[in-house]
Amino acid sequence: MKHYDIASIGGDGIGPEVTAEAFKVLDAAADVFGFRYKRSDYDLGTERWLATSEIFPDAVFEEVKQHHAIFLGAIGDPRAPVGLIEFGIIAKLRFELDLYINLRPVRLYDERLCPLKGKSEKDVDMIFVRENTEGAYSGMFGFAHKNQALEVATQVMAYTRAGVERAIRYAFELARTRPRRQVTLVDKANAIRAQEIWTRVFAIVAAEYPDVRTDHAYVDAACMWMIKNPEWFDVVVAPNLFGDIITDIGAILQGGMGIAASGNLHPGRVSLFEPIHGSAPKYKGKNVASPVAAILAGSMLLDYVGEREAGRAIEETIVDLVRSQTIRGVSTGDHGTREIGDMVAKHLKSRVKGA
Ligand code: IPM
Ligand code: MG
Repeated sequence: MKHYDIASIGGDGIGPEVTAEAFKVLDAAADVFGFRYKRSDYDLGTERWLATSEIFPDAVFEEVKQHHAIFLGAIGDPRAPVGLIEFGIIAKLRFELDLYINLRPVRLYDERLCPLKGKSEKDVDMIFVRENTEGAYSGMFGFAHKNQALEVATQVMAYTRAGVERAIRYAFELARTRPRRQVTLVDKANAIRAQEIWTRVFAIVAAEYPDVRTDHAYVDAACMWMIKNPEWFDVVVAPNLFGDIITDIGAILQGGMGIAASGNLHPGRVSLFEPIHGSAPKYKGKNVASPVAAILAGSMLLDYVGEREAGRAIEETIVDLVRSQTIRGVSTGDHGTREIGDMVAKHLKSRVKGA
C-alpha cells in the first residue's frame, strides 16, 4: 500500500478549521482508494509568534521539508505587523524550497457560481502558472532616511533567465495536456521594461512548441478580458505579482475565495498546497467558512503525489455536489464548515464505492 507523509500547518484564523475538513476528505479518499498517509501537525502562525516570538524555527523547517507534501490552511492576523508572519511562513516555504510554480486552476463548476452575465462552465476553464520565487517578491527592498521628509523606499523586481524560463516552459508543457493547447503571457513589458525578458524568453520557448498556440496580454488589459471574454484563456503564465493579482480575479470567476485552490510546486520535490483565501480572523471558530477551497487544495496535493484518481474523484465529487445544489454556495455562511466536509467525505465514498 502506498504511504505518504504530509505536513499540516493549519495557521491562523479559519486556517485550522478548513484544514480539518480537507483532511477529513483525505481520510475518506485514503479509505476508498487504498493508500495511507501520516499527517504531522505543525503549530505555526501568529498565536505561536505571540506566545514565543518564534515564527518558523530552523529545526521545525528542517522537519517540515522531509515530507512528501505540505498542506497549509491560512496565515495572517491583525495582531502581527503586516506581512511578518506571511513572509516568515508562506514566503519562506516558497523561497527556501524553491517552489517556483504557483499553479492556480480556475474552473467554473456551475454557472450559478459565476458573477458574470451569460457565461457558463465552458467559458471559464483556465489555469494560471504564476512564477513564484522572484519578481516583486525578490525580497530585495529597503528604506533610506526612514521617517524623514525625503524618505526613499525601494523594492527590486528581479527576474532571472532561469526563473523566467522554467515558469514559461512549465506553462507550455501544461498546455500540451489540455485540449485547447494555448498559453497566454501576461506582463507589463511596455512600462516595466525589465519584463522584456519575459517577452523574449516566451518567444524562444514557444518555438519549441509549435503545436501550442500563443497569445499575449498586458496585465491591465488581461484584467478586462478575463471578465469580458474569459473563454479566451486556457493556460496563463505571469510574473509573480501579476499572477497574484489576476488569480484573485480568476477566483471570483469560479465562485470566489471559498473555492479557489493552489499548489506551490517544484516538480519532483516536496511541494505546498493551500487554499488561495486568507485567514478571515473574524470568522474564526464560527463554523461558517467554506472549506471547499481547502478540500480542493487537498485534491491537488493527491494529484501531485501520484494519487491522480483520488485527486480527480474529490474534484468531481465537489462538481456533483455543486451542480445538484447539495452545496448551494461556496461563500462564508452558506453552510457549516464541518457540514461541507462531512458531505464531501460521504459523497466521495458513495461515488467511488457505491457505499
Ligand atoms: C497569495 C497571497 C500571498 C501572496 C500573501 C499572503 C503573501 O496573496 O498566496 O496569493 O502575495 O503571494
Ligand atoms: Mg494573493
